[in-house]
Amino acid sequence: MPIPIHPADRVFVLTGAGISAESGLPTFRASDGLWAGYNIEEICTPQALERNPALVWEFYSKRRADGAKAAPNPAHIALADLEAGIPGRFFLCTQNVDDLHERAGSRNLVHMHGELAKSRCSRQCGQPPVEDRQVYASLDEVARCTCGARLRPHIVFFGEIPLEMERIQREIARSTLMLVIGTSGNVYPAASFVHWARQAGARTVYIGPEPPLNANAFSQAIEGKAGEVLPGLFQVQA
Ligand SMILES: NC(=O)c1ccc[n+]([C@@H]2O[C@H](COP(=O)([O-])OP(=O)(O)OC[C@H]3O[C@@H](n4cnc5c(N)ncnc54)[C@H](O)[C@@H]3O)[C@@H](O)[C@H]2O)c1
Ligand SMILES: [Zn+2]
Repeated sequence: MPIPIHPADRVFVLTGAGISAESGLPTFRASDGLWAGYNIEEICTPQALERNPALVWEFYSKRRADGAKAAPNPAHIALADLEAGIPGRFFLCTQNVDDLHERAGSRNLVHMHGELAKSRCSRQCGQPPVEDRQVYASLDEVARCTCGARLRPHIVFFGEIPLEMERIQREIARSTLMLVIGTSGNVYPAASFVHWARQAGARTVYIGPEPPLNANAFSQAIEGKAGEVLPGLFQVQA
């Protein structure tokens, strides 16, 4: 059954690793908490960056190489099409660090957990993030900030504060329909978004092959792979 998008609807979409699974990018909890064979709790932390920057950069260089080979799938494209159909009433928040949404044509989006294709100063000297798609073979190759400090991936590590939270909260507060796609409901604050949306009176729909941890907070769940469910799902009403 299609999801009607009424003329007064404002749509907020939250996506997670699951939406990129059909593009060949492994999800994070797919195999016992490993992400592509790495124990991310040993890698995606400020402490790891301090103690073992070579391992952190090895991991993210591999993710960059994988990301460059991947292409958007029908789920990314369906969201870009929906945005084009309801201009000004669509907002996308992704937990993903890949750039498959932008490559599919999404425009009004934020990456709350950062972006693989960017780096920033590890000393936080105030310089903004820079585009950096380099796959580094060793730590010595990693580019430096103008202040001299080594760059770090522009990624939100465990224990760090997600990006753009104020804008995200504003967008949730004014949305009437929240779609959550391919995320396990494990990572906070993203797992709270559905609760905030319900408080604001929005309809909330989950799409994915299995129920997320916060499944009971949704008004509707559609079981299936994002790339199979999303194309043709939305019925934009004039
Ligand atoms: N592509 C990426 O950028 C990428 C990949 C892995 C992890 N991460 C990072 O790790 C964290 C992982 O948390 P998470 O909740 O997003 O992912 P997760 O790995 O914890 O959960 C993945 C979810 O996707 C679902 N899923 C699997 N295949 C699917 C499909 N074909 N269609 C729809 N859903 C599918 C699973 O049922 C599961 O609920 C994120 O914060 C993100 O920053 C990013
Ligand atoms: Zn700097």
